[in-house]
Amino acid sequence: MAYYFEEPSHTFSEYLLVPGYTSADCIPQNVSLKTPVVKFKKGEEPSLTMNIPLVSAVMQSVSDDKLAIALAKEGGISFIYGSQTIEDQAAMVARVKGHKAGFVTSDSNVRPDSTLQDVVNLKEKTGHSTVAVTADGTPNGKLEGIITSRDFRIGYADMNSKVSEYMTPFSELITGKDGITLSEANELIWKHKLNSLPIIDSSKNLKYMVFRKDYASHEEHPLELLDKQHRYIVGAGINTRDYMERVPALLEAGVDIMTLDSSEGFTEWQRRALHDIHAKWPEAKIGAGNVVDRDGFMFLAEAGADFVKIGIGGGSICITREQKGIGRGQATATIEVAKARDEYFAKTGVYIPICSDGGIVHDYHMTLALAMGADFVMLGRYFARFDESPTNKLIVNGNYVKEYWGEGSNRARNWQRYDMGGASKLSFEEGVDSYVPYAGSLHDNVTMSMSKIRHTMCNCGAVTIPELQQKAKLTLVSQASINEGSAHDVIVKTTSLHS
Ligand code: IMP
Repeated sequence: MAYYFEEPSHTFSEYLLVPGYTSADCIPQNVSLKTPVVKFKKGEEPSLTMNIPLVSAVMQSVSDDKLAIALAKEGGISFIYGSQTIEDQAAMVARVKGHKAGFVTSDSNVRPDSTLQDVVNLKEKTGHSTVAVTADGTPNGKLEGIITSRDFRIGYADMNSKVSEYMTPFSELITGKDGITLSEANELIWKHKLNSLPIIDSSKNLKYMVFRKDYASHEEHPLELLDKQHRYIVGAGINTRDYMERVPALLEAGVDIMTLDSSEGFTEWQRRALHDIHAKWPEAKIGAGNVVDRDGFMFLAEAGADFVKIGIGGGSICITREQKGIGRGQATATIEVAKARDEYFAKTGVYIPICSDGGIVHDYHMTLALAMGADFVMLGRYFARFDESPTNKLIVNGNYVKEYWGEGSNRARNWQRYDMGGASKLSFEEGVDSYVPYAGSLHDNVTMSMSKIRHTMCNCGAVTIPELQQKAKLTLVSQASINEGSAHDVIVKTTSLHS
């Protein structure tokens, strides 16, 4: 006879946290959101931690190199999507690792014989008023000078004049040598009252520009997630088919962490992939999933997963439950897998972090997932709304939106994710193509979301995530109390969208 779970499966919206005692030092500024990403032995430190408990989904419409850099600045990790060629994915990883915080490749360049009109045109195109003058007009050509919009006055200067007549020539420039640190560059910027500092190699070729305003931005990101060589940490999604070629290319590009990306991870294919990858590249860190119960977790734990991802059918763009009738409420799945993780830890002394993937709609859902035992959460829709996500921003019915599509939609055609073995490819859709409301910058939104988590943790008397998991008191809510939770019995004056 089939097995029946005794409890119905629940979603995050059916739970609330009940406050615990808040002591005087339990204030948002004292809350640490640091969390482990990969498994570790009792008493030891995990080899990879994050400063905020957020990772971005392995999706074409979410995680490219640009979003990865923006999220690493805030302290989280992006998993660059795997539904692209190995070369393209490795190139994205390499771009994240090659991006030196605060050091930018000059995007506005002219030659000494270019005209002032060329400078004005360039400024209109890039929006940047500091233009490097290189011998061949390329970003890494021999530096001849710098010209800014303050060097000539439109309406007074002849716009056909040569740049060389108006630029600050190399002989009068303060420059930094390739290899200097950001702090050293900043010292020079302050000492010489500069707005920008060109960084050159021994042959006077321009390597980077450091801008005063970017250093300020670097200072604004105290939680940024960097490796030992001060490069941003980045992840990538892999599949159970081409991993023997994809993994070495990603490792070569400098990837820090990978995850098997599959709609259903309780499979022989994941066991084989984890075994083969760890045998060939023992240092590689690989997450696996997705699972929704104890059995699935134990299977992947035994198979060697470095973290385990939870969630089937809860994603905002997901129609798996409708199409195939499989899945489980995300809250119930997280609670059961967290229990299994604790059981495994008690038995083996190995702590395997778990990630709640999909179905986060409100910021408080993140806090609930953490309180239920997740070490971090993976989000797609949330990040898709921001400037940094890879998709188009459009106006639909007078509102700004961004595009967001599932990996199982015909648009993404990520058939490996839904592969159940055999030769057949994706034959029916498990995801939709959609719009999400545009929400501005990743920094502003993540700052706000993390602030809400910190405040709620203080309500629960917790200043760390493990403490929250220990102290949290959760209650299921009735439909009537859900209604009671939003504005009711009043005529609301203005409407606004809360996330
Ligand atoms: P969201 O944060 O609720 O939008 O969910 C994102 C998660 O949905 C991803 O991390 C995947 O686990 C899952 N997902 C991505 N694409 C699809 C799809 O096409 N169908 C079903 N689930 C998907």
